[in-house]
Amino acid sequence: MSVQAQLTARSIHSAINVVLDTSYQGIDEGDWRKLFTSARKSGLEQYIEDMFAGKHINSSEDRPALHSALRNLTKTPVLINGVDVMPEVAEVWHRIEALCNQWVDVADVIHIGIGGSDFGPRLAIEALAHVPGIESRGMRMHFLANIDTAELARILGRAQPYSTRVIIVSKSFTTLETTMNAKAVLAWFQESGCSKSQIANALYAVTTNIPAAKEFGVSEENIFPFWDWVGGRYSVWSAVGLPIALQYGFDTFKQFLAGAEAIDLHFKNTRLEENLPVIMALSLLYQQEQNDIKAYAAIPYADALDWFPKWLQQLDMESNGKSVDRAGKPVKHSSPVVFGSAGSNAQHSYFQLFHQGTEIIPIDFIAVREPMSDRPEAVAHHRILLANCLAQAQALANGKTAENPNDVYPGKRPSNLLLLPKLNAFYLGALLALYENRTATLGALWNINSFDQPGVEYGKVLAKPIEKALATHQNDIQASADIDAVTAARINLLNSKN
Ligand code: F6P
Repeated sequence: MSVQAQLTARSIHSAINVVLDTSYQGIDEGDWRKLFTSARKSGLEQYIEDMFAGKHINSSEDRPALHSALRNLTKTPVLINGVDVMPEVAEVWHRIEALCNQWVDVADVIHIGIGGSDFGPRLAIEALAHVPGIESRGMRMHFLANIDTAELARILGRAQPYSTRVIIVSKSFTTLETTMNAKAVLAWFQESGCSKSQIANALYAVTTNIPAAKEFGVSEENIFPFWDWVGGRYSVWSAVGLPIALQYGFDTFKQFLAGAEAIDLHFKNTRLEENLPVIMALSLLYQQEQNDIKAYAAIPYADALDWFPKWLQQLDMESNGKSVDRAGKPVKHSSPVVFGSAGSNAQHSYFQLFHQGTEIIPIDFIAVREPMSDRPEAVAHHRILLANCLAQAQALANGKTAENPNDVYPGKRPSNLLLLPKLNAFYLGALLALYENRTATLGALWNINSFDQPGVEYGKVLAKPIEKALATHQNDIQASADIDAVTAARINLLNSKN
């Protein structure tokens, strides 16, 4: 069925007042039936049950993927090897709340972490800053991720050592960027004349590797644990999300968890035909099968969510960007490339390709009913924002004929509309959990393990001998087992004076 024909066959679902409209996917009722049947056949329902039950769905690392326990505010027991993890999780909540009350006169916070130890809290801090009337402690939250010292220099140039706190966030506590940046910040404290006890007071860590954090010099009472059954990119719900609580208050952090919990309950308990993450996953799968799509875009029509596509890139592509299934067999499909940025800005950038390019790129349009400011212009501006969002989806779906080929819009370009009633901590949590569960669903349907990331390791290994060769400052490096001829030549170029 053509996309255009779907204009009359509306397909709308909702959960916790979040509406998903797939009408512009061009999927008719028969197609949906087939999609749900094949999802059932693939064992998706069992997979969802297994995930929440703590089965070892992270098969390569032989452990559960239980980030859902971190937002299980009802504290329903979650067993790992027969032991309920909820008391430990709740203990960390108490410590987070206590820290919120304890921190006074903190002007700057430097959150050091990368990848999953960065994107979630960074997105939340940025997004919630846009919520009209939100209570904020007004601390300057600095996120330090890259090994590039540009960020480090900018942050240290602004922060005052005596009123700065540092949170070192690393699941492994071995990530090079994070440990080196942490060392640099430690040196900055020392050079600024802070005493040992002042430094100890300023340093905090969030990690599963408590010995390494202690070894680094973080005192035990300042270490917030999390667990190996939480994947790094699924970790914002743990103490990795500390900045959210510290800046906006513990209740706001709890709201963030509550939104995610509400989506988990929906995902776990709703039949596939009404299950938002499942429907979103199946619509993508359909486009892969029908249109052989290689990329999709997430376009939030909310400036507050400008960081959302970056967070989503790690979630989707680190989870599902794989070529083999759980048994090591090649897969036909895995994660397409995902990209995006806030609309309507994005319209003035790459939407030309969406409308008239040779590639079909499905889009998730994400819109928020309520305006994101209380400016007098807010209502009028927001109406225009929403009108643009709807217009783009319609233009993409229906296209437009014209005499001049240059003016033809081919149409039949699929999209979803995801409509949030408002953007606050609750709905931000819901949005992230919606996508996390969609990613897990896609992994299940492709039979991919969404919870490991072996593909990030090789480059890290190769960087070591290259770094050593760069440190020689010699421009006669020869190709070797670790360094090929092209890279040896590049090292020599960098090592030569001009
Ligand atoms: O290199 C990828 C990765 O392992 C991500 O999966 C992770 O989010 C990031 O690095 C940071 O890891 P860590 O939290 O252990 O420092």
